[in-house]
Amino acid sequence: MTGLLAAREADDTLSEAEIVANINLLFGAGHETTTNLIGNGLLALHRNPEELERLRADLGLMQNAVEELLRYDSPVQLTSRLALADTEIMGEHVAEGEEVIALLGSANHDPAAYAGDPERLDIGRPGVRALSFGGGLHFCLGAQLARIEGEIAFRRLIERLPRMRLTDTEDVVWKPTVTLRGLKSLAAEW
Ligand code: HEM
Repeated sequence: MTGLLAAREADDTLSEAEIVANINLLFGAGHETTTNLIGNGLLALHRNPEELERLRADLGLMQNAVEELLRYDSPVQLTSRLALADTEIMGEHVAEGEEVIALLGSANHDPAAYAGDPERLDIGRPGVRALSFGGGLHFCLGAQLARIEGEIAFRRLIERLPRMRLTDTEDVVWKPTVTLRGLKSLAAEW
């Protein structure tokens, strides 16, 4: 926030409205997304107990595991772009002014990228690179922070609550959101 207040390009500074909008974005973009990473990730691990045991036995797998969890159940399902000029994407014509939606959650399950095996949770998967943070100019500002938060959260939960058990891994309730994918709640005992 201090950086935003100090931001200046030549003699031009950010207006109050721009600063407020960016701070709102930071709070929104940084909170629910990471909550969803932790919730969706915990559910995925508990639905795949052999992967949870594998992680418990070797916490050195944590970094790769978080990347795989981001891929497996993407906390943000889509992002969009507005075409500034007529263009073509893989044979599809896109006219200037048209909106293009990129389904990140779907791309994360591309069989061509994951050797025909995208539906399996594999915390040791080699070469996993989740597309969950978008790409290019608007690539998520908080990607590295979110990865670290995920690593810390899963590590602490495993270390401090070794007997943690989700009381129901099947009938979970998802929030009715389209862009963000996350659970309304996740009941556990320990
Ligand atoms: C697991 C957690 C997170 C996920 C999955 C996520 C995902 C995304 C995605 C998909 C975008 C759009 C990228 C694009 O259109 O190419 C985005 C943008 C953004 N994210 Fe995140 N995000 C996460 C955490 C965070 C955190 C912790 C922060 C800040 C502390 C943050 C701040 C932002 C901001 C400011 C943008 C807009 C960037 C721009 O338009 O230039 N995000 N994020």
